[in-house]
Amino acid sequence: MNVIIQPNEQAATQLVARLIAKTLRGRPSAVLGLATGCTMERLYAALADMHRGEGLDFSLCRTFNLDEYVGLPPDDPQSYRYYMNHHLFQKVNIDLRNTHLPDGMAPDLEAACARYEAAIRDAGGIDFQLLGIGRDGHIGFNEPLSALRSRTRPQMLTPSTIAANGPLFGDPARMPRRALTMGVGTILDSRRCVLLATGAAKAGVLAKAVEGPIAAMVPASALQLHPACVIVADEAAAAGLAGKAYYRFVFENEPEWAEFR
Ligand code: F6R
Repeated sequence: MNVIIQPNEQAATQLVARLIAKTLRGRPSAVLGLATGCTMERLYAALADMHRGEGLDFSLCRTFNLDEYVGLPPDDPQSYRYYMNHHLFQKVNIDLRNTHLPDGMAPDLEAACARYEAAIRDAGGIDFQLLGIGRDGHIGFNEPLSALRSRTRPQMLTPSTIAANGPLFGDPARMPRRALTMGVGTILDSRRCVLLATGAAKAGVLAKAVEGPIAAMVPASALQLHPACVIVADEAAAAGLAGKAYYRFVFENEPEWAEFR
């Protein structure tokens, strides 16, 4: 695992955008695993800027989102399909037929999850998995106690997640209690994963995920098992990390990061 600490939210976001841009320039048909949430809104704005300003090309890439609410149709403004169209897909030259989210409207949710796993496999697996982190330690919607080998499946959301996302629904009672999410095991199968964490509200949980024991109670801690995982945090989110001096030393000296310093 690499931990990269940036002075502020904008620098952290920009660094992740540059990592994605480098992946796409190296392999235009790359398979990207995508996340939603407030943190990613700024990242998608940065990618849209790179598309407009530098011609970053999305025409051949394929995408699989981590999760989708159960029971929200794609045209519901709170659905993650709507979010992705609005924040990224309509702002770049992606082919919408190459974009995928789990089908939270499927009559048979288990079958929809199995189809999603098969589609990821058929695409050759995920090259670059983008992640945020929930205050309860979730990645995707893998809530505490998610099996570390779990696959795409329906998941009941925690009160903490409902409290965090409920206000976005206007009336929190309208927020679905369940979602379909890639599993922790699905995420760990990606060839590379990058978690972006910004803001003081993530400091406690990020320290547990990076430096605590690997535990199903903190699903993000499973990333310690990933052979190519990068955590990018701003100073506020990194505040609880004990090993900051060492992480900075690695970032300053590792040749891989020279172009990002
Ligand atoms: C949603 C997802 C979640 C979010 C997490 C953080 O697709 O993957 O794990 O990344 O809930 O959300 P924000 O950025 O809103 O704090």
